[in-house]
Amino acid sequence: MKVRVFPSPSKASRALARDITRAVSRNPRLVLGLPTGRTSIALYRELIALSRSQKIDFSRASTFNLDEFVGLSADDSQSYHAFMQRHLFDHVNFSPKRTHLLNGAAEAAECRRYERAIARAGGIDLMVLGLGRNGHIGFNEPDRSLVTRTHRTHLKPSTRRANAFLFDHRIGAVPHEALSMGMGTILQARRIVLLVTGRSKARAVARVLNGRLTTRVPASFLQLHRDVEVWLDGDAAALISSN
Ligand code: GLP
Repeated sequence: MKVRVFPSPSKASRALARDITRAVSRNPRLVLGLPTGRTSIALYRELIALSRSQKIDFSRASTFNLDEFVGLSADDSQSYHAFMQRHLFDHVNFSPKRTHLLNGAAEAAECRRYERAIARAGGIDLMVLGLGRNGHIGFNEPDRSLVTRTHRTHLKPSTRRANAFLFDHRIGAVPHEALSMGMGTILQARRIVLLVTGRSKARAVARVLNGRLTTRVPASFLQLHRDVEVWLDGDAAALISSN
């Protein structure tokens, strides 16, 4: 895996926003995989600024979000759907018919529908990922086994705590289940960039980069992909070793 360490979280976010806008300029029909979470807020802020200053046209690009809470529909203000509207889609000219998110309020067939939509779009060109402190990507949580395709899953207490900021810091309000792209769905993306900032993620980053392949650290499976970059700030890189 290629590792890049930036002097600050904002420099890392800005560089990735620049990379994404370049990719869209080269291929206006780019298919992006997108994360939510605090790290992505900084990235989307930079992307909005760049799309305005460089007048980048996102209208033909497609997006697929990684995950959503079970039980929350698109118009629920605490859903990842609403998060994406607030932090990105309300400000950049993505076409609503090409921005795809899982519907947390839908029936079981929703996961299969999502997989079909990704396949119809021709697969994901650039998958942007964040990292959970426990090594999760999307909502693929550490477990005895991992799931290949988009599926319904239980969230760990630590993951529910990390997401409580979306629910007025009331952990009891965070759903216990979520829908998530599977590990196979993620690993089929043509290119992957894992963006991680902050000291609280340093241990997880070291396990992803220097540790064994294990379902206890789902992101360790990124080691199998031929085009993965891990973009870090100094704090997130604090515990990695160079061998
Ligand atoms: C959430 C999301 C992940 C995200 C992770 C990191 O649980 N499901 O897709 O990558 O958290 O979030 P943060 O950037 O807030 O640490």
